[in-house]
Amino acid sequence: MSNVLLGVTGSVAAVKVPELANLIRAAGHDLKVVTTASGLYFFDPVELDPSRVVRNPELVTTDADEWPGKDEGERYRRGDEVRHIELRRWADIFLVAPLDANTMGKFANGICDNCLTCVWRAWDSAKPVVLAPAMNTHMWDHPMTRRHLRCIAMDFGASHVPGLMEDDALIAQLNARGRNFRIVPPVTKRLACGDTGVGAMADTTTILANLSEMLASPSGTP
Ligand SMILES: Cc1cc2nc3c(=O)[nH]c(=O)nc-3n(C[C@H](O)[C@H](O)[C@H](O)COP(=O)(O)O)c2cc1C
Repeated sequence: MSNVLLGVTGSVAAVKVPELANLIRAAGHDLKVVTTASGLYFFDPVELDPSRVVRNPELVTTDADEWPGKDEGERYRRGDEVRHIELRRWADIFLVAPLDANTMGKFANGICDNCLTCVWRAWDSAKPVVLAPAMNTHMWDHPMTRRHLRCIAMDFGASHVPGLMEDDALIAQLNARGRNFRIVPPVTKRLACGDTGVGAMADTTTILANLSEMLASPSGTP
């Protein structure tokens, strides 16, 4: 059993978070979730709580939980917890599903302006990460996506990856050369926006299979 931290970003694929959370728990893992503000547009944290009555901030961290009382004018007191550091300490693995284009860009550039990206920025690269991107086909096909994925993978040791290759081959190379690093490629289907093309988040069962592989063999060699 492992401590799985699930990061959720503002993709429509976040509607599948309750399904993914159930699969992770059914596999015997402890689960905590950290979500961006946009992620909250697509799922209700209450759905993840077995009691289904109130949101449990220990289970689902929002940005408000990182800054308790901020809107009421309260200030940090010495000894107060720093939530993103507590989460990176607790977690054995960081799964970001769905990973949207915005947060992918932040990961690639070291921007840490919310709790989720602070966990990423503070992450111990000796522990595995799994990323499941999800975005519209036009976003996925934009050259920035490949540039960002390469940058992120390089932080996990995936250097000297040749240029000019198909997406599947590139992702396979990044996964093979990165340590503790796995991208679960998006799939082709009719997207929520009505377009048909690549960009839909992989099936939750595929994501769980990748998570299990990375926990069993963190070096990530498939
Ligand atoms: C209905 C809706 C669906 C969206 N779906 C996606 C998506 O699948 N992938 C994506 O990259 N952005 C998507 N976006 C845009 C992101 O939510 C937006 O870039 C946001 O700033 C992301 O913030 P975050 O990365 O902090 O979660 C969507 C926006 C809306 C309103």
